[in-house]
Amino acid sequence: MKRISIIGYGQLGKECFATLRRTHLQDSVMVYRHDAGFDATDEKTLDSIVELSDVVINCAAMTDVNACETDMKKAIDINYLMPKKLAKRIKSHLGNKRLVHISTDFVYGTSMDDKAGMSLIDEPCDLNPCNFYGKTKAYGEEAVIDEMKYCENSLLVLRPSYLFGEYGTNSFVRRTIDALLASRINKISVKVVNDQFIYPTSCSDVCNVISMFIDHKMSGDIYNVRCLDAEENKIRSKYDIAKYIQSLIGGELEETSTSELYNEGTGAVRQKNSALSVYRLMNSISKYNYYERSQGDKQKLFTWQDRIEHICRSVVDKKCD
Ligand SMILES: NC(=O)c1ccc[n+]([C@@H]2O[C@H](COP(=O)([O-])OP(=O)(O)OC[C@H]3O[C@@H](n4cnc5c(N)ncnc54)[C@H](OP(=O)(O)O)[C@@H]3O)[C@@H](O)[C@H]2O)c1
Repeated sequence: MKRISIIGYGQLGKECFATLRRTHLQDSVMVYRHDAGFDATDEKTLDSIVELSDVVINCAAMTDVNACETDMKKAIDINYLMPKKLAKRIKSHLGNKRLVHISTDFVYGTSMDDKAGMSLIDEPCDLNPCNFYGKTKAYGEEAVIDEMKYCENSLLVLRPSYLFGEYGTNSFVRRTIDALLASRINKISVKVVNDQFIYPTSCSDVCNVISMFIDHKMSGDIYNVRCLDAEENKIRSKYDIAKYIQSLIGGELEETSTSELYNEGTGAVRQKNSALSVYRLMNSISKYNYYERSQGDKQKLFTWQDRIEHICRSVVDKKCD
């Protein structure tokens, strides 16, 4: 029996807890919730979490990108110092404990913006975060990797992009679904930019990858993670994703650009290119043929089209209840 601990009970933490409780019946799965009084920045709390775990999954973070610009201390404490302290403790157990650290595409920042709409971002790319959230996440990730550099196969760092799922209502995908549904009634168009390039990441797929790592079905490393695309060589703007959602649920949609939508100087700067390559991840997963389907095709991750369709159905069903 493995003892699996999840730190953070936000959209990904909730999905991880629900998934691992279902898939790892033979293991013990614990979750440490901020809203229940667990503060992961507290050293004694971290000591006891690590002591009681074989695998720790760090899903806790300050994710409000604009708030990170103003409450810098809080952002540093949870996004940088907490993962560093956690990795130090895991390392001290000499390879007997393992860590999953959730990072973000925001660590890349503007490093690939001049290729936006043309090129996917690979993991070895330079990190050039363009806002304080991205900077603190990059420091956290760097610290974790540095602490655990001699702990072979004990560390998995995942860089998801634009996470969405059953449990979070504040993601780009969920906000777009809600706004389009509302626009069917109020007739106010939902404005979405056509010059930021993304592939969203379903929390379910992140959980599947974590599950493979726990089961030793892929190697520890730094991986981009996102949903696949039904036409994998096409790079999508946020507007393209919104247009797909509109094709499923209707509503009024209007195309705009970043400079038109946001007044210069308000809020944190956003990168243009968040289109991640998942070549490294797919390669690692293929070695284990983990998702081999009965039909013979090897499905490693689902497409964002499949995942969004599923979420749209679930949101609409809940609204009809
Ligand atoms: N959301 C995205 O689009 C996205 C994209 C790429 C990567 N990521 C990364 O994915 C991970 C999960 O993100 P998410 O979308 O699940 O974010 P989320 O919904 O905001 O969840 C983050 C959780 O961390 C908790 N937390 C904050 N400070 C804490 C502390 N001191 N002790 C314990 N828990 C604390 C928060 O609790 P409170 O709310 O009570 O403070 C919240 O439940 C994060 O590392 C994030 O950087 C997110």
